[in-house]
Formats: sequence, structure tokens, C-alpha cells
Amino acid sequence: MKNDLYREFKNIFNKEAENAWFSPGRVNLIGEHIDYNGGLVMPCAITFGTYILAASNNDGIFRFRSLNFDDKLDIPLQEGYVKKGESWFNYPLGIIDYFLTENNKLSGLDLLFYGDIPISSGLSSSASIEVAMAYGLNDLFGCGYSKLELVQLAKEVENEFIGVNCGIMDQFAVAFGEKDKALMLNCDSLEYKAVDCNLGEYVLAIINTNKPRKLAESKYNERVSECQAALKALQQELDIQNLCDIDTATFRNHQYLIKDSTVLKRATHVIEENDRVKLAAKAMANGDIAEFGQLMYDSHDSLKNLYEVSGKELDIIVEYSKTNPDVAGARMTGAGFGGCGIALVKQGGFDRFNREINEYYTGKIGYAPSVYRSSIGDGVGTLKAMANS
Ligand code: GLA
Repeated sequence: MKNDLYREFKNIFNKEAENAWFSPGRVNLIGEHIDYNGGLVMPCAITFGTYILAASNNDGIFRFRSLNFDDKLDIPLQEGYVKKGESWFNYPLGIIDYFLTENNKLSGLDLLFYGDIPISSGLSSSASIEVAMAYGLNDLFGCGYSKLELVQLAKEVENEFIGVNCGIMDQFAVAFGEKDKALMLNCDSLEYKAVDCNLGEYVLAIINTNKPRKLAESKYNERVSECQAALKALQQELDIQNLCDIDTATFRNHQYLIKDSTVLKRATHVIEENDRVKLAAKAMANGDIAEFGQLMYDSHDSLKNLYEVSGKELDIIVEYSKTNPDVAGARMTGAGFGGCGIALVKQGGFDRFNREINEYYTGKIGYAPSVYRSSIGDGVGTLKAMANS
């Protein structure tokens, strides 16, 4: 694939690529919809991701081409940019805009993008392309941002330029991911530990619902506002900055402050999910996959019933998983509203799981899911070394 990309670059731009970068996508094992509430999350980088190949040009133009999409953009270097429609190139354009607004000196670039993350699958294709572009510009123009600063600016681009009020988990995971490790990330302090992803005889399956996601962004932003409303209500009596600053017991004593029943459900999910991540971290450290798996099921139920971000397709994946004795646990991963589920499946039972979930899901939904056996990979980096291999 990598050599093909270099060939494609040459075909498109009639010159050799000079630089190449890769940033992965991610799955989140547990800790959903709590990153923007200062919670603990447990994501891993996966080996699917976004590749960017680049060569500088002397005509002061950014040329964006993709092997995944037909739409392209040629835009002159100027002071800044605004989002243009819903096209894929808004993500790198937003990053370039950020670098320019911070007075970094950039020059024209011919850019080729290729991603093997299924689009709109909830595996963070957007964070992946943002972080790859930010890493690439920083590398090429010597802008001097630390990796954490790149993560923070990529999140800001997603919030301000793209308009999704996401937390920091995805950008962090795709930048700091490590092979065969899960990140235990505190989204308030941004302290993290890369812990062994101790799955024993289990493997991680990713099940893509293949459901086209609609309204996901507006629903996502609605959840963020509901959490802000819950925090405001609790702050009448509690000195806290984030919902995840309190545990479930403290919440129980103060939940009467939240009058709106929907807001109450959202806050209950957030605070209980944060406690579940702490238990999950212990279970992972002890190699107790049965316990970890049960916490995944509990997390899914809460996302379904209290946070209401699941959906028929994701629920069917979990429903089937519960009937298969080779599965320790399953849940939706990422924002929800479609996208992907994940399951911990015994290695020896993977083929049967794959076959049966295909039949079960197709029977109930009317089209097939895509099932992958996932490998946990490294975070963003340069592909320079491979240029001529
Ligand atoms: C999306 C967002 C993340 C996070 C998850 C849900 O992936 O980008 O910041 O909120 O949803 O956990």
C-alpha cells in the first residue's frame, strides 16, 4: 500500500512525494462520552489510519487530493480560511488555518490523502486526518509545537472550524497511542499511562454497523449541552469543575439538584461510567477479562438507556454477543448513533463469531456488518523512512 501511494502521488502531481506521515484511528475500550466531562477513558490506537504524502511547490497553492473521495481543492495561501461545505478537505484546511492564524510561516504544498479507516464509522477518521496534518506541518515547517500542543490544536480545530464540540480523547489517542497498549487518560489533567492491553486468550473485534450516520453531530452537541446543564445544577452546592469530579455516591446525595429528568439521566451515565473505567483498569491489570467484559456490557446498557446514543444496529451487535459463550463483553465505541461496536472474543472462536454475527445482524437489519480483527498500533509518525522501500 505505501509504495502504491508514492506511485499515485507521482501520477497525480507529476513529481515525487518528499514527505509522508501516518496517523491511526482509535477504538475506545471503555469510558464513553465522558472525555468532555473531565473523565477517565481507555482508548487504543488501531492500525487503520490516514496517510498524507506531500511535496512543496513554488506557486503558493495548497492542493488537496484524496484517493478516497473525488472532491478536491486548490486554494492559494492566504491569511486564513473558513469551512467549505461538508467536504473531507475541511479537516486539513482547518489545521492549516490554525497554523496560519498563529503566524507560522507556511508555503504551498501538493498533498495526497489516503485513509483505510472506514468513513463515518466512529473510529476517529476525523481526528486521524487532523493530527496527521498538524504533525506534518509541524515537521515540515519546524513550528516547534509539542505533541500535546498538536493534540490540543487539532481538538480546537474540530470544535471551532468544524463545529463539533468533541472532547480530547480521539486526538490524544491517535497521537499518543502505543502498540499493544491501552491509554489510561485523565481528560481533565491530561495525565496518562500506557498500560498493557492484557487480553489473554481474547482478541478485539471491531464490528462496523455500516449504518450511514445522520444528525450525529447535532445530537453529539446536544449531549454536551445537557452535561453542561447538569454541571451547572450541581455547582449550586458542589465546588466542582467537571461532572467527573464526583463519584456515584456523592452524586446520589446531590442529584435532587437536577430537575430535568433527561439531564438527570445523562449525568447518571457520565458519573457511573467514570467509576466503571476505574474498575475496568483494575480488571485489565489483573487480567480479569470476565470482569472487564461485564463492565463493557454495563457501559453499553447505560449508553443505550441513560445516554441514548446507541441505536438498533449497535444494540443488535451486543444482543448477539451476549448469546455467544466465546465473547467476554461487547459495547458501542465512540460517539454512537451508528458507527462501530467492539467485542472481546476468544481467539479460537473468532471465525464462528464472525460468521454468526454476520447472519444474525443481516437477518435483523437487512444488510451486513463488517467485522475486523483489530490490532493495536502506534500513534502518529513520519513515514519518511519508507519512501524508497
Ligand atoms: C467522539 C468524540 C470524543 C468522545 C467520543 C465519545 O468520538 O470525538 O471526544 O466524546 O465521541 O466518548
